[in-house]
Amino acid sequence: MSLDDLYRRVIMDHYQRPRNRGRIEDGAVTVDLNNPTCGDSISLQMRVEDGVIQDAKFLGEGCSISLASASMMTEAVIGLSPEKGLELVDLFSRLMQGEEVDMEQFPLEDIEALTGVAKFPARIKCATLAWKALEKGLKEKH
Ligand code: FES
Repeated sequence: MSLDDLYRRVIMDHYQRPRNRGRIEDGAVTVDLNNPTCGDSISLQMRVEDGVIQDAKFLGEGCSISLASASMMTEAVIGLSPEKGLELVDLFSRLMQGEEVDMEQFPLEDIEALTGVAKFPARIKCATLAWKALEKGLKEKH
């Protein structure tokens, strides 16, 4: 299997079996964002307590890239401090700009499957939507 096929498979797996899709019952902040280029949206909820992102869940309409990215993002950030979460937002944004970044810094290997999106400028906003929602939530609401 080529690397592209492997990446495609990882993305489809997250799209078809999204991790952390749903709502958090209580104590959560909610961020609703949409992708201005297509109108697709995400509603991200997170609960931060004791300096740790205890939970993160999302609902949304979007393409496979955007929903797979949301699934990966929530899986990656649960258990991290908000500061570390923001560092990952920055790292992911640099990855999408085509920069060489140290992939070991991501706590989830699957994120590597999104590396190829950097070659398709029209899709970068899809991949970064959930991460932008995370950034907004961590910066504005905590
Ligand atoms: Fe709308 Fe990707 S096409 S989020």
